[in-house]
Amino acid sequence: MTRKIIIDTDPGVDDAIAVFMAFACSSFDVVGLTSVYGNLPIDITTDNARRFVELAGRPEVPVARGADRPLVVDDIGPVPFIHGDNGLGNAAVHDPSVELAPLHAAEFIYQMALAHPGEITLVPVGPLTNIALALRLHPDLPGLVDEVVIMGGNAYAPGNASPGGEANMLHDPEAADIVLGEDWPITMVGLDITNDVALDHAQLAAISAIDSPPNQLLGAAMPFYQAFYEDNLEGFEGLSPHDAVALVYLLEPELFTTVRKPLRVELTGFGKGKTWPADPYHLTQPGSPWAGRPDVTICTGGDAQAISERITRELTQGS
Ligand code: RIB
Ligand code: CA
Repeated sequence: MTRKIIIDTDPGVDDAIAVFMAFACSSFDVVGLTSVYGNLPIDITTDNARRFVELAGRPEVPVARGADRPLVVDDIGPVPFIHGDNGLGNAAVHDPSVELAPLHAAEFIYQMALAHPGEITLVPVGPLTNIALALRLHPDLPGLVDEVVIMGGNAYAPGNASPGGEANMLHDPEAADIVLGEDWPITMVGLDITNDVALDHAQLAAISAIDSPPNQLLGAAMPFYQAFYEDNLEGFEGLSPHDAVALVYLLEPELFTTVRKPLRVELTGFGKGKTWPADPYHLTQPGSPWAGRPDVTICTGGDAQAISERITRELTQGS
């Protein structure tokens, strides 16, 4: 079965890995990319999304520009030291020429869901601002989408952008709290599993060896991002393909362990951006922060090796 997906993305090297994997995989029909600020400012992330559809040979796939800042808080700012000044590891890139879709990302998401009721899966892999805006503008959106699988959050693992917060949550915790509080089929693929997944040196070499425009860009972009991981995480070899792990969840959910619990996102203080799962006794406490919140499927672990192998396979197939 082919699944229609919209990837909401802030490219970003691991975003590039995810988007090119989605285009390469016959199980996915990528019906749109929506951009959001995050790893880099919105002008840069949007141009990268435009580049992706061109390099993938899919210029007809719409790219809709989205939010340039969080809903409420000041942004924590871009991370060029992780993804490079251009979000693509400072690789040489072409000027994109595809036109943008004439809709804001939030409106694009809704219009696509309206046009294909029950068929669209949303894959947000950046700050959740566009998705929260879409929900506020169109409260009927949850009834129109098939599924939502986000990369972000940390239920039991520590944060990566702060001791408490995962980057996508920390950029816009209010938006994340809205999205994770909505009653729709949503899965959080966060650091609890993505921290364990690495593309190792052999896998990176295999991906980079393919003579195609997407793989050649990845081959040029990944070393900068890899250096961040290897220089900063003791003993880590390779790089972390966070965003692509969310796509593997859609392809092979049996590779993941999950629990279902309500979540809240911490909005302020030094724990800002932390996603907190509730245990049953939390729900019975008077004034519980989780009262009335629906269960979220939370990935708590999985077969990290099989996940990295699936990403590599999708990016090297047909070679
Ligand atoms: O925490 C990992 C997430 O933050 C990924 O989406 C990565 O692209 C960065 O935005
Ligand atoms: Ca991302």
